[in-house]
Amino acid sequence: MKALLLNGSPRQGNTYTALEALKKGFANIEGLEVGEIEATNVDVSPCVACDTCGETGKCVFDDDTNEVIAAVEEADVVVFATPVYWWGITAQLKLIIDKMYSRGAALQAAKKKVGIIAIGEADQEDVQYELIAKQFEAICGYLGWEIAFCNTYTAGAVGDLAADEKAVAEIEGLWKTV
Ligand SMILES: Cc1cc2nc3c(=O)[nH]c(=O)nc-3n(C[C@H](O)[C@H](O)[C@H](O)COP(=O)(O)O)c2cc1C
Repeated sequence: MKALLLNGSPRQGNTYTALEALKKGFANIEGLEVGEIEATNVDVSPCVACDTCGETGKCVFDDDTNEVIAAVEEADVVVFATPVYWWGITAQLKLIIDKMYSRGAALQAAKKKVGIIAIGEADQEDVQYELIAKQFEAICGYLGWEIAFCNTYTAGAVGDLAADEKAVAEIEGLWKTV
């Protein structure tokens, strides 16, 4: 079984901390191979809606798109982890999600479990967490993927999530839901 963690943050901050905790928990799943992609470190250009992929099943760009989307396709568990930027997910992560279009039919045919972690500075009453959860509900509903967990946390500065022992312990336990 393969898990792919997609980190939408451009810095080694709270999302990084969350994924480190998640990996600690995932180590309990026997035979689980864990891969990780930092969206900021891959070259995935924006979708230009050329629709060539509709015929070829591949993105026309000679960048990291096809490799990244192949990793999504191969994974049994996909975790989308993102800071909240302007009430939504980061542009870096959205670029990858947009390119899932290039393998839409194949991804729809694949059975996957999904985890979502969103971290923002605002408290949990803010509508942003609901908006992000709804976006992933729609995406996963369309693809026929099952959401195993969707957890949101409040943390602003680098180190804030690491200092929140309760949150870190909760994330370490998320593997049980997968
Ligand atoms: C461009 C930008 C936009 C942001 N927008 C929001 C926002 O809409 N809501 C919020 O709660 N936090 C917002 N934040 C704060 C981040 O979500 C927060 O600092 C988060 O912990 C960053 O995660 P990271 O440390 O993994 O990068 C924003 C930060 C940046 C840089």
